[in-house]
This record gives sequence, C-alpha cells and structure tokens, in this order.
Amino acid sequence: MPTILATLVPFFLFNILILVPMSVSDSNTFLQCLSLYSEPSHPISELIYFPNTPSYSPILNSYIRNLRFNSSTTPKPVFILTPSHVSHIQASILCCKKFNLEIRIRSGGHDYDGLSYVSNSPFVVLDMFLLRSVVVDLKNETLWVESGATVGEVYYRIWEKSKVHGFPAGVCPTVGVGGHFSGGGYGNMMRRFGLSVDNILDAKIVDVDGRLLDRESMGEDLFWAIRGGGGASFGVIVSWKIKLVSVPEIVTVFRVEKTLEQGGGDIVHRWQYVADKMHDGLFIRVVISPVKRKGEKTVKAKFNALFLGSAYDLLDVMSERFPELGLIGNQCVEMSWIDSVLFWYNYPVGTSTDILLERHSSQEKFLKRKSDYVQKPISKVDLDGIWKKMMELGKVSLTFNPYGGKMSEISEVETPFPHRAGNIYKIQYSVSWKEESNDVANQYLDQIRKLYDYMTPYVSKSPRSSYLNYRDVDLGVNGDGDVGYDEASIWGKKYFKRNFDRLVEVKTATDPSNFFRYEQSIPSLASETGIMSE
Ligand SMILES: Cc1cc2nc3c(=O)[nH]c(=O)nc-3n(C[C@H](O)[C@H](O)[C@H](O)COP(=O)(O)OP(=O)(O)OC[C@H]3O[C@@H](n4cnc5c(N)ncnc54)[C@H](O)[C@@H]3O)c2cc1C
Ligand SMILES: *[C@@H]1O[C@H](CO)[C@@H](O)[C@H](O)[C@H]1NC(C)=O
Ligand SMILES: *[C@@H]1O[C@H](CO)[C@@H](O)[C@H](O)[C@H]1NC(C)=O
Repeated sequence: MPTILATLVPFFLFNILILVPMSVSDSNTFLQCLSLYSEPSHPISELIYFPNTPSYSPILNSYIRNLRFNSSTTPKPVFILTPSHVSHIQASILCCKKFNLEIRIRSGGHDYDGLSYVSNSPFVVLDMFLLRSVVVDLKNETLWVESGATVGEVYYRIWEKSKVHGFPAGVCPTVGVGGHFSGGGYGNMMRRFGLSVDNILDAKIVDVDGRLLDRESMGEDLFWAIRGGGGASFGVIVSWKIKLVSVPEIVTVFRVEKTLEQGGGDIVHRWQYVADKMHDGLFIRVVISPVKRKGEKTVKAKFNALFLGSAYDLLDVMSERFPELGLIGNQCVEMSWIDSVLFWYNYPVGTSTDILLERHSSQEKFLKRKSDYVQKPISKVDLDGIWKKMMELGKVSLTFNPYGGKMSEISEVETPFPHRAGNIYKIQYSVSWKEESNDVANQYLDQIRKLYDYMTPYVSKSPRSSYLNYRDVDLGVNGDGDVGYDEASIWGKKYFKRNFDRLVEVKTATDPSNFFRYEQSIPSLASETGIMSE
C-alpha cells in the first residue's frame, strides 16, 4: 500500500499547485490534482460528480437520512467524490487542502444533524459507500470491515459464516460503520459486551498528510481517539478490525405495551431500579410516547427486550427481578440472534435475512434527536410530571436504554466515550414528522427543546452529558472558521467529560492545522485561531 503519496509527485508540480490560486469552479484543474495523487491503475475521474452531472443529486440524496437536510436551501457540496480505492481518499485530502475546500466524510449518512454532508463553507462530500467490503475470519473470530458498510451488512456476513457469533452494534441496520464505530456504537447487547468501540482491534485511517496508517503506525493515542471521539476530527477511517462475540443459538425477545391506565407509569418507575442491575444478557428498552386512547390523551410505555438465552430462563429472571411487568410465556419469542436483529427493527417475524443488505430505508422523515443520562431513579411524582408534560407537548417520545453490566466495568477513560459506571440509563428524545414546512419544523423543534429543558432536574449535571452519536448541534458549535477551545469545550465536555482534553491533545498532534473540521470537531491548539482564543 502506498504510504506517503506526496513523495510520488515531482516537487515542482507540488509548488505550482500551491502558488497558483485555483477557482473552485475550475473542475479540470482539480481533476488534474486528483489524478496526480491517485494511483494510475485506479483512475479517479469517473468517481467525481459535479453539480452539472445527472448523478450528482441522486448520489447526494441517497444517503440523506434526515429530510430536514434534503431541501433546496440546504448548502450543497462543490462536488462529491466516491472513492473506490484508498489512493482516492489520499488524493482527495491532499487536493482539498490545496484548494482550501472543507471535506465532509459520509459513510451511512445517519448523522442526526446532517454534519456528514452539509457545511456553510465551500466543501466536498467524500462518500464512502463504494468501500464496503466485509471479510470475516471465523478462525480468529475477527472481521475487517470498510467504513462504507452498514451494521446490517456486518451482521449478515457474520451470520453467513456462523450462527453463534455476532457483534455489539446499533439496532438500525442501515447505520454506517464509519460514523457509528467512531462515535461509540451501542445496541441491545451492550450490557453483556459493551459498545462497538470496546470490541475494536485495529483500524486503518488516512491522515491529513495523506498517509495510510494502521494501529501500529498511528500509535495508541490516535487509535484511542477514533474509538468514540468521532473519526472526522482526525482523518478518514478506511476500515476497522473488530472482535466477534459469542451469541447463543437461541435468544428470546419480547415486546409488551402498557399505558398509564394499565399501570405503565409504575412499571417504568420500577424498571429504573432493576434494568441496569439484572442479568447482563437481558436488555429491556422502554419507549415512552404520548398517544390517544378512546379520544383521551395518555402515555404508552413499550418494553422491548432481547435476552441472550431461552424463554424459560428469561421468565425465571423476570419473575425474580421484575415481576411488575407481568411477563408471561406466550409474550416471549425464541429465535436465532440474526432474527432478533430483524425483530428489533420491527420487521415481521419471518422476514428474509436478506433485508439486512438493503442499504436504503423507504420511510425517511424530518427529525430531531437529543440525549441525556440518568444517574438517580426519577420519583413517581416526578415521572407523573414528565408524562403530563409529554401529553401537553404532544409529539416527543423518550427512549430509555439501560446501562450497567459490562458498561460499568470499563473505565471512563478507556475510550473517549465516558458514560460508564454511575449511569442507570440513557434517554433519547425523538421527534419525527412528515410535513415539509418550516413552521411545522419549528414547532416540533420547540417541543423537543421544551421537554429537554423540563428534564433538567432529573438528569446528569456538571456536565449535563450527551451521547456523541446522538449528534445535537443545540449543545453548541464551533465558530465559523474559528475553532476555539473554550467554545468547543462546552459541547465537548458533555460528550466526552474529561476525555475532551486528551482528544484536544491528540488533535493538536495529528492535525495541527485543523484541516479536518466541522461544527463539532475537536479543536487544535496549534491552529492560529485556537491559540488566540485560549
Ligand atoms: C435511524 C437511526 C438509528 C440509529 N440507531 C442507533 C443505535 O442503535 N445505536 C447507536 O449507537 N447509534 C444509533 N444511531 C446513531 C448513529 O450511530 C450515528 O448517527 C452514526 O454516527 C452514524 O454513522 P454513519 O456512518 O451512518 O453516519 P454519517 O452521517 O456518515 O457520519 C456521522 C459522523 O461520522 C463521520 N464519519 C463518517 N464516516 C467516517 C469515516 N469513514 N472516517 C471518519 N469520519 C467519518 C461523519 O463525518 C460525521 O461526523 C442511529 C441513527 C439513525 C439515523
Ligand atoms: C429529497 O429531495 C429530492 C430533490 O428535491 C427528491 O427528489 C427526493 O425525493 C427527496 N428525498 C426524499 C426521501 O423525500
Ligand atoms: C489468524 O489465523 C491465522 C491462521 O488461520 C494465523 O496465521 C494468524 O496468526 C491469526 N491471527 C491473526 C491476528 O491474524
């Protein structure tokens, strides 16, 4: 593999490119630059899409997962590059640097605030979808996956080779591993196995100088940073090597709903005392939404579970630890682990596993998400207040995801993801809608922000913590082209707590000039503006 591609280029050419200012619209000059740096055996010219080409819009739109950023007023990239070889990534970085273009790296496009494909500065989208090979090494119980693959593809390729292996990652099969793994990555096996980042063995990244590095050559600091610190502050992640985990041949799932009238409020209250302390093979998520029943407003709590074992053993665990839910045998469904993946994404039982290879969802919506951590159970009275507020607002749902188990055994500084022991559960706030109107959007954004404000007394404090993969620009953004430590630390400490400072150190050492930047990128203390605001 090429390492420093710049050495392939005659030095005088390098100089000319720097000295002659290039207008962005001069696509030929940019193409020349790209060809200069790519390997001739892997031509790049077919992989670049300018706005005047017919494929530009379909390619841009195909990985937009939030319709808020699919409008004609959303800033569009100067062009899109779809690398199919690592030298294309190297060339993109070196040429964008020269032309002073920002790079937005997109793998699965699930960023909730669209930061992988929207910028206010002139920018290029590096779309990774052609790089999505998954190579399973069952003997070693490992797998190499390229960034553009989805977690559904990872699950599928494991299942093809083995019915007793799996991987702890997200519930939504279309999430891309490029963003998902570099931001943490959790799913319904996290209480047994931790996060995706807790099961990563190696990675390949192209850095700001166009060098292709692996774990050994990037060093432990950078390898630490990209496992939860967000990859896009440090370089372009090409691929990950992950450790497969063992799953039983048969697992059990259930889905039980209770409204307030059916005692749902008390059961949720009780859930807070057991969900993080039970058997680590049991993950019970609660989705709480305002609904109407017989014309009356109420709140519905949906308990979704995965148990890594038989229905018989699950009923045992439940009757001992959580009898309040009243789970009975015919609510439990035994199935293979791969079918549980489909069940959890609401596919009807019996759906073909092939659906995991489907990279697009047909039901895109306008949406906003936020997150919080709960460290002390919320009292019944306070929960009642929350239900009332939810009914009053009308549309926002809360999802409670239990922690504990393996999550509490891993130190807060082991990876940049700091939300470990001491957290009972994480809350995800969700609001989604289908109407295309700014007024409607503002109304729903207002609702979710109001509920978030209302929750202040009940959630983690100093800092009020958030999950990076639940991207939320309301927490704060870097100033325009002026990345300062102080403003970044406001959102940075929420996502990373004290790991933020180490991330800043790694950033300063690996990308001092702050080429890899976006609204919530880690600031470099070496970049001019960074020093000024210190
Ligand atoms: C429907 C849905 C369900 C979800 N479910 C879960 C869940 O169950 N568990 C969970 O933990 N999260 C979940 N998420 C959140 C998800 O993990 C994050 O949005 C994640 O960052 C998505 O990764 P992506 O590659 O699809 O996104 P992208 O939008 O492509 O990227 C997200 C961020 O990572 C950067 N990035 C992407 N690829 C690379 C790369 N190759 N190198 C460097 N930087 C890169 C981007 O620039 C951007 O900053 C969900 C999101 C959605 C929309
Ligand atoms: C996104 O916008 C484009 C162009 O307006 C449109 O063709 C496409 O259908 C939109 N995507 C979705 C999922 O609505
Ligand atoms: C993987 O397995 C092969 C043999 O199957 C072995 O040579 C190799 O050392 C193993 N380990 C790794 C890390 O690849």
